[in-house]
Amino acid sequence: MEPKQLETLFNKPVVFQGNYALVNDSSLFENQKQTNDSFSEKWVKLDAESSTSSFEKFQKEWVLQLYGFKSEDGFREYLKDKNIIIDAGCGLGYKAAWMAELAPHAVVFGADFSEAAQVAARRYSHINNLYFVRADIADLPFTSGSFDFILCDQVIHHTEVPKKTYFHLAHLLTGKGELACYVYAKKALPRELVDDYFRKATHNFSHQEMWAFSDQLTELGKRLTELNVSFDCPDIPALGIKGGTYDIQRFIYWNFLKCFYHPEWTKGENDSCNFDWYSPSNAERYSPQEFKEWSSEAGLKINFFRSEEAAHTSIACK
Ligand SMILES: C[S@@+](CC[C@H](N)C(=O)[O-])C[C@H]1O[C@@H](n2cnc3c(N)ncnc32)[C@H](O)[C@@H]1O
Repeated sequence: MEPKQLETLFNKPVVFQGNYALVNDSSLFENQKQTNDSFSEKWVKLDAESSTSSFEKFQKEWVLQLYGFKSEDGFREYLKDKNIIIDAGCGLGYKAAWMAELAPHAVVFGADFSEAAQVAARRYSHINNLYFVRADIADLPFTSGSFDFILCDQVIHHTEVPKKTYFHLAHLLTGKGELACYVYAKKALPRELVDDYFRKATHNFSHQEMWAFSDQLTELGKRLTELNVSFDCPDIPALGIKGGTYDIQRFIYWNFLKCFYHPEWTKGENDSCNFDWYSPSNAERYSPQEFKEWSSEAGLKINFFRSEEAAHTSIACK
């Protein structure tokens, strides 16, 4: 897109240097500031380490599943009539880059409030229909009605007031635009209590202490996975624990403590997944009903809805 055309999408002057523009890198809110700082730490460290193709492959396949696309070709087909796209809260930008490749006719933006926006711009400077902005996705500098597709994947619960962010994103949609969004699901009671405890406690952890804690969680996840033991658990409604056959690592993971481990990921990728969970202060969780209400309050119609243990996802339109 020509610079002049690009400017028409913004509601205030935004200066690009190549494929990157700095709009805002500081929040007024303590928790959002801490959240940005912890994601800057995570992404800069992960970018410096070599990543496995298995990590990105897993994430992309998960996106297809979460939003009901049967295959990558199905997603490509869906993007065919989407001309202006944004990955709101893009992290290192691999999903924005993926969409730019699947939809070469489109202009794709990635926005992130952490240093990741600049890192992503550097990583993907070779893709010429892709731009990155460092900005708060609750206050993006775009003209209302700009986007045909907004992907806000694994992000909105990290923003200061998630429901307000959702309304802001809804107002950036074109008449036929669609908003695909993911929120963390509420989990079993013991897991929620431990999560709440650590979200506050980790405020006082240095980055170094937080990485050490994440490493211990990875190691626990690894040892439990390697046990390769399953058992039948009864329903325990008072704790919100659903009965069924569980692998022991999954049982502890879903009901007591996030101790993520994926055998094909590097130690850095596994640690960063655990870091990502307990480090940011902003990390709300929701029931399906609570999430659905955002769309009705924003005047959006839900075309697709899915709930799984980790999250609820929906695609909604005006
Ligand atoms: C768990 S990561 C997900 C990144 C990416 N969507 C992905 O799926 O790989 C959450 C991202 O949201 C970003 N984020 C949190 N609050 C934000 C805000 N208010 N505005 C923009 N980005 C935000 C963080 O910096 C982080 O990169």
